[in-house]
Amino acid sequence: MALTSQIKTIAVIGAGQMGSGIAQVAAQAGFQVIICDNRSEGLNKAVQGIEKSLAKLFEKGKIDEHPPAILGRIKKTTQLSDLVSADFIIEAIHENEALKKEIFSQLDKIMPAHVTFASNTSSLPITRLASATLRPQQFIGMHFMNPVPIMGLVEIIRGHSTSNETYEITKLLSEKMGKVTVCSQDYPGFIVNRILMPMINEAFYTLMEGIANAEDIDAGMKLGTNQPMGPLTLADFIGLDTCYAIMKVLHDGLGDSKYRPCPLLKKYVDAGHFGKKTGQGVYKY
Ligand code: CAA
Repeated sequence: MALTSQIKTIAVIGAGQMGSGIAQVAAQAGFQVIICDNRSEGLNKAVQGIEKSLAKLFEKGKIDEHPPAILGRIKKTTQLSDLVSADFIIEAIHENEALKKEIFSQLDKIMPAHVTFASNTSSLPITRLASATLRPQQFIGMHFMNPVPIMGLVEIIRGHSTSNETYEITKLLSEKMGKVTVCSQDYPGFIVNRILMPMINEAFYTLMEGIANAEDIDAGMKLGTNQPMGPLTLADFIGLDTCYAIMKVLHDGLGDSKYRPCPLLKKYVDAGHFGKKTGQGVYKY
C-alpha cells in the first residue's frame, strides 16, 4: 500500500458539487488530480466552478498559490481506464449503490494493488460497497461536507475490514487537504447525518403540523442555536431528495419509528422540488 508521501495523484470520480469540491481541495493541497465523469459537459462545468471558487479564495487571501497553477494540476477524463496512474481513488457520484459497486468492481480489476479506494457516500454502508472489491482492507469512507472548499471536516468511516493503515493514510490525506477528521464506525448515517438529518426531519414535521411557518422555524434555529442557516434552508441547500434518501437509510437501517421520514419532506420530493438545485424547495430560488 502507498504511504502518504508516495501518493502523488488522486482520482476523483464524479464531477458534481461534491466531486468538484474534492478535486479542488486535493489540487490546492498540491496533488495531481484526475477528475472522471461520463458527462463531458459536467466536467467542464466542474472546472468552471473550481475556477470561480479559487478566484474567490485567492482574492480573500485564503490561498497563496495562483489559481491557474492549482487548476493546472487537474486533468479531466470520461474514461475510468485513464485513472490507472492514480495512487488513491475518491468516488463521489450520486447515491446509487449499484452504480457505485459497478464502478468499484471495474476499478478493482484495473488499479494496481497498492491503491486505496474511498467513497464519499453520505449514508450507504462502507462494508457493502467494499464487498464489490477484492480489497476490503483498502476500502474506506471519506465523507466531505458541502461546500467542500469551505467546510473544515472529513468524516472517516471504517468498514468491517478496513485496515489501520488505510485509516491512517486517509486521515493524513484529509489533513493535507486542510481538514479535521472524525472517525465513525459503519452504522447508518455515521456521525453527522445520524444527528443532523433527524433535526432537519423534525423541522419538516414542525412545518407540516402548522406549529410555525418556514421563516420562523429557520430564524428560531439560526438565531436561537447559532447555526449558520436554519434547518429548512440547509435542507434546500443539501437537496431534499438527499435528505429524504438519508432518512430512509436511517429508518430502514435502525428500524426505529423515530426516524420515519416526514410526509411533507416526501411530498416536496414527489413534486420534484429538490431545493436550491431545482430552483424550488421549501423556498424559491
Ligand atoms: N468556494 C469559495 N468560497 C465559498 C464557497 C466556495 N465553494 N462557498 C461559499 N464561499 C464563501 C463565500 O464567498 C463567503 O465568504 P466571505 O464570508 O469571506 O464573504 C463565505 O463562504 C460565506 O458565503 P455566503 O456569504 O455566500 O453565504 P453564507 O454566509 O450563507 O455562507 C455557507 C455559506 C458557508 C454555506 C454557510 O451558510 C454554512 O456554513 N452553512 C451550513 C453548511 C453546512 O452545514 N454544511 C454541511 C451540510 S451536511 C453535509 O454536507 C453532509 C451530508 O452528507 C448531507
